[in-house]
Amino acid sequence: MSLDYDEGEGRVLRQIVPRSLLGRSLLIIVTPLILLQVVSAWAFYERHWDNVTKRLANSVAGDISTVIALREQVGPAQEAELLRTAGEAMDLTLSIEPGQRLAAAPPPASDRLIDRMLARALNERVGRPYLMDTISFTNQVEVKIQLEDGVLHAVVPLNRLFSSSSYVFILYMVGTSLVLFAVATVFMRNQVWPLRRLATAADRFGKGQDVPDFKPQGATEVRLAAAAFNRMRARIQRQITQRTEMLAGVSHDLRTPLTRMKLQLAMLGDATEIEELKGDVAEMERMVEGYLAFARGEGTEKPAETDLGLLLRDVVGDARREGTAVDLHVEDRLVALVRPNALRRCLVNLVSNAARFASQVWIRAGQVGDMIEITVDDDGPGIPADRREDVFKPFFRLEGSRNPMTGGTGLGLTIARDVIRSHGGDLVLLDAPTGGLRARLSLPL
Ligand SMILES: Nc1ncnc2c1ncn2[C@@H]1O[C@H](COP(=O)(O)OP(=O)(O)OP(=O)(O)O)[C@@H](O)[C@H]1O
Ligand SMILES: [Mg+2]
Repeated sequence: MSLDYDEGEGRVLRQIVPRSLLGRSLLIIVTPLILLQVVSAWAFYERHWDNVTKRLANSVAGDISTVIALREQVGPAQEAELLRTAGEAMDLTLSIEPGQRLAAAPPPASDRLIDRMLARALNERVGRPYLMDTISFTNQVEVKIQLEDGVLHAVVPLNRLFSSSSYVFILYMVGTSLVLFAVATVFMRNQVWPLRRLATAADRFGKGQDVPDFKPQGATEVRLAAAAFNRMRARIQRQITQRTEMLAGVSHDLRTPLTRMKLQLAMLGDATEIEELKGDVAEMERMVEGYLAFARGEGTEKPAETDLGLLLRDVVGDARREGTAVDLHVEDRLVALVRPNALRRCLVNLVSNAARFASQVWIRAGQVGDMIEITVDDDGPGIPADRREDVFKPFFRLEGSRNPMTGGTGLGLTIARDVIRSHGGDLVLLDAPTGGLRARLSLPL
């Protein structure tokens, strides 16, 4: 099946947007979801993150500043005890390096939010020269503060400065979105496949293949469409059968009076007029028989996977035995779902037509796009372009003699086109490059 998308306005948009119904409906569900999440997360965390980090940094800086203030109040004897208990209570590791001095200029702090906030808090709450190392360790930060008599060394675990709950929350958000997306995909797929099934059924019906009655499933609208399709198919089938049967009935009933006429003519003698009448009656008989032969095969034959190469070789074999020069070229593996006997009848007629009017016949078969194309060319007189539709009319012959020696009943091309069209294909007549007529039939794969 090939689909054409009309070009023109909105083409760019159409190239970005998925083409399948599934893709489009998912897009409709998921785009607002993602937009909503991104906007709310951004608006919320922009402020929330800043605030939380600022408060955490302030609390660490405040603790350090408290320790420094307390140390000035207790004597050197209790210093070690103070650092230990304060450190335990505040979840810091504190030590003093007496007499040390910090390097003159603090190295530039990195641009991370934590670093910026901590530097600001230390400046505000401690107000002494400091050095910060936030990079050397993955789960802690080292801060060195210049005191009058040495350096206070504080190791701050990262979880005092950093709130991971926000990340967890984002992970939850992404996770649930993914789950939602998966669930939506499954549900949407279930909504879409009845439509696909309907499309396949309609396509197959158009190609004259068997379509079992299928139960409408899915959403109400899809069910309605499927039910309508089922009814339409039944109506069309009934109509086709009725028409074929009616014509067959008429043809059949014509036989009796024809036979009677033949008998009466036989008793009338051999005058020229009577001979002509006999010829006419014989011709009418052939026409009736021709149609009956066609109508009998119609409708009962089931489509089957058929190797068109084999079928063609068979037809050409028969033609060669009757003395026709045929040149056959078939691509590998041309297999299609067709009614083999009907198709054979159609090919036999094309080849026998060509053989009747020409000395050499060329047959090519191959796949063109999603169609199988078979051309039958000859080097005969051809058919003038303005008569090419006429020869498809029933019982139409270009030379009007009705002589059974120079042609058939004139049903061949009518039946051939009918057969090909009932397969969803078409049969057209063109100029052959070899000088005569080209009959080109195309069948959908
Ligand atoms: N290859 C051809 N070259 C020239 N004329 C053709 C060719 N094929 C068909 N025609 C013309 O088209 C007419 C209709 O062809 P069609 O096959 O329908 O009937 P037919 O061959 O006369 O009879 P039937 O096939 O029923 O025995 C033919 O009578 C002939 O005049
Ligand atoms: Mg013919």
